[in-house]
Amino acid sequence: MTILVTGATGTVGRLLVEELLQTGQRVRALTRNAAKAGLPQEVEVVEGDLARPETLAAAFEGVTAAHLINFAGDDYQPLEQGDRIAEIAAQAGVRRVTVLGGRADGALEQALAGTDMEWTLLHPVEFMSNTLRWWTHSVRAEGVVKEPFGDRLSAMVHERDIAAVAATVLVEGGYGGRSLTLTGPQAVATTDKVRILSEAIGREIRFIELTEDEARAQWRMFGMGEETIEFLIEALGNTPEEGRTVAPTVEQVTGRAPRGFAQWAAEHAEAFQPVASA
Ligand SMILES: NC(=O)c1ccc[n+]([C@@H]2O[C@H](COP(=O)([O-])OP(=O)(O)OC[C@H]3O[C@@H](n4cnc5c(N)ncnc54)[C@H](OP(=O)(O)O)[C@@H]3O)[C@@H](O)[C@H]2O)c1
Repeated sequence: MTILVTGATGTVGRLLVEELLQTGQRVRALTRNAAKAGLPQEVEVVEGDLARPETLAAAFEGVTAAHLINFAGDDYQPLEQGDRIAEIAAQAGVRRVTVLGGRADGALEQALAGTDMEWTLLHPVEFMSNTLRWWTHSVRAEGVVKEPFGDRLSAMVHERDIAAVAATVLVEGGYGGRSLTLTGPQAVATTDKVRILSEAIGREIRFIELTEDEARAQWRMFGMGEETIEFLIEALGNTPEEGRTVAPTVEQVTGRAPRGFAQWAAEHAEAFQPVASA
């Protein structure tokens, strides 16, 4: 059986490709630019654009299971033609689908619910890997983290556990019609996260708590749009219960305990080492 991975060059997708290869699956990866994909050579790389379903026939041909993202473009716009994608998958003979959930279910999820494919929605809470995106620069340059809401709790999940759940569901099935909330093993406060990362890199990291307005100004300086900034203020300042409550799903599906932030920090410590002085 061939398994199609969309978003295969992204944070979760790359790990999902690895997980599937490790269990001997035949993997096809979708990307908008094969020349830049940088995927293992065993992977069949196919070009296509989820925003243009007419480009997807080759990607779905002969596929029995598929992992789908529900957005298109670097600004994560919901798939407008998600219903068309579900139709192409069903017509190609896809039997089982996982969807990496985003901010809200959209046309793709709704359309899948109306098919007889075995679909499973994966709803991870905050990714641990956001730490790389948000903290690397200031930790390396100044040994500091600047964020609002220091006591905010997050049950953040290791991205490899998201991939492991997707791989298990795609290969073994058994979760059809379900929406799975994926978390790590603990709800961790931002200040504790800083401490754990400090221990992993062997260097003190100072935490500077920003006011909401200071955070907005910082994120504008990073080039973020106003919509994303307000989403973050709401998501961080008012983390919903689901985002700060540990769920048993990773262990139930994969049979192994979810990876904690200390493990993530140890795996990524190198990325936070100081910028070498010239
Ligand atoms: N970060 C978090 O804390 C968090 C929490 C919960 C849920 N999520 C959800 O996770 C998802 C992001 O996952 P990620 O971080 O793994 O992604 P990512 O690292 O940002 O990678 C984006 C992927 O999407 C692909 N892509 C973008 N537009 C495409 C298009 N038009 N056609 C085909 N492929 C396209 C890219 O492929 P190419 O560039 O190779 O074409 C790339 O593989 C979002 O839905 C987000 O809402 C994130």
